[in-house]
This record gives sequence, C-alpha cells and structure tokens, in this order.
Amino acid sequence: MANARTGRVRVAVLISGAGSNMAALIDAGLQADAPFEVVLVLSNKPEAGGLATAEAKGVPTAVVDHAAFGKDRLAHEQAVQTVLDAHRIEVVALAGYMRLLTPFLVGRWAGRMLNIHPSLLPRYPGLDTHARALAAGDAEAGCTVHLVTDGVDDGPVLGQAAVPVQPDDTPAALAQRVLVAEHVLYPRVLGDFCRGRVRRS
Ligand code: GRF
Repeated sequence: MANARTGRVRVAVLISGAGSNMAALIDAGLQADAPFEVVLVLSNKPEAGGLATAEAKGVPTAVVDHAAFGKDRLAHEQAVQTVLDAHRIEVVALAGYMRLLTPFLVGRWAGRMLNIHPSLLPRYPGLDTHARALAAGDAEAGCTVHLVTDGVDDGPVLGQAAVPVQPDDTPAALAQRVLVAEHVLYPRVLGDFCRGRVRRS
C-alpha cells in the first residue's frame, strides 16, 4: 500500500472545520519513523480554518464545495473521488468532516477510511455527544477511531481513549479535554492501521 518513494502510506485527511485532528495527523506523519504521510487535505467548505493550517505546514489542499452540487450528494462525492485519485490516495482519514456519506464513497473506501468520533462508541453516535454524556451522568467520556461503514458512526472500532468527567463539567470543557485525547489517539491508531497492526473489535 505504501508510497514507492518514501515507503509511507499516502493519507488524505477530509475536514470541514478547524482541523486540529488534521494538524495532529500531519505532524505525526512528519516523524522519521511514521508509517504514513498526509499528502492531501480536502475540505467540503471553502471557509474551513484547517485549510490555512495545512498550507502553513506545506500540505497540498483542495476544496470540493458541497454547496456547488445542491442536493446531488453522489456528484459531490464523485468530484471528491476524482481529487483523491489524482493524489494517489491509499487511506482516507475523516477528521471533523461534517457530511453524511453515500454508499458510493463508503464502498469505494471500504476498509481504508477511518473516522474519529468524540464519544466512547457505541454510546452517543451523531451530534452533541458531550452534552449527552453529561446529561446521562456518565463517569467517563472519550473518543473513538473506527472504520467507516454505511451506518453513522457505526463501523468496527479500531481504538478508544477514555476521559474522566469532572464534577462541574460543561459540554465545552469536556469537549476540550476529549479533543486533547483525540490528538493522541488518532495518530496512534492511524499509525497502527498503516503498519497493519490494528485489531478490529
Ligand atoms: C472532533 O471532536 C472530532 O472528533 C469530530 O469533530 C471534531 C473536529 O475537530 N468528528 P477538529 O476539526 O479536528 O479540530
């Protein structure tokens, strides 16, 4: 799977926003012993803050604006796929990519597309995970890296990190602490995945 020149798996990171996980993945891919390199950052939103971060780190970026495709999700994904092909991408890492995928892209990348979700799946798929964990009185929250399948936040789990809930936690404070854990978990799991070491649970 690896790049013939560098020996590293060619990864695209798909974002819609700030891209802090994306930045962590780029930095991890720059380490001397990294099994992957981030060779493309693609956003469905031209205003995504992560685009400037990626450019500052010297990583090529692309925008495939979903708004230009109206309700035609398939056409948007086909345009995304064309960019992924052009960059000879081998593994796709979703990192705050706020699009529901159709079977086209999911099927095209089956077993080679990862996502990070800010909860301990199978608890709290979807949005507002931290508020839901606090409302339930959970003692711990966390994050999950999983393979992407047709269901929302539903694929085989590749790795998780737990974060204790504090007595006076707010959703925002908990989200910030979970995000710090995400920045450690995602590079580690993607690295293990690209080394072929990951156990699917
Ligand atoms: C993260 O919490 C991630 O788990 C979720 O969206 C957020 C993206 O944050 N899927 P960032 O863009 O990586 O900073």
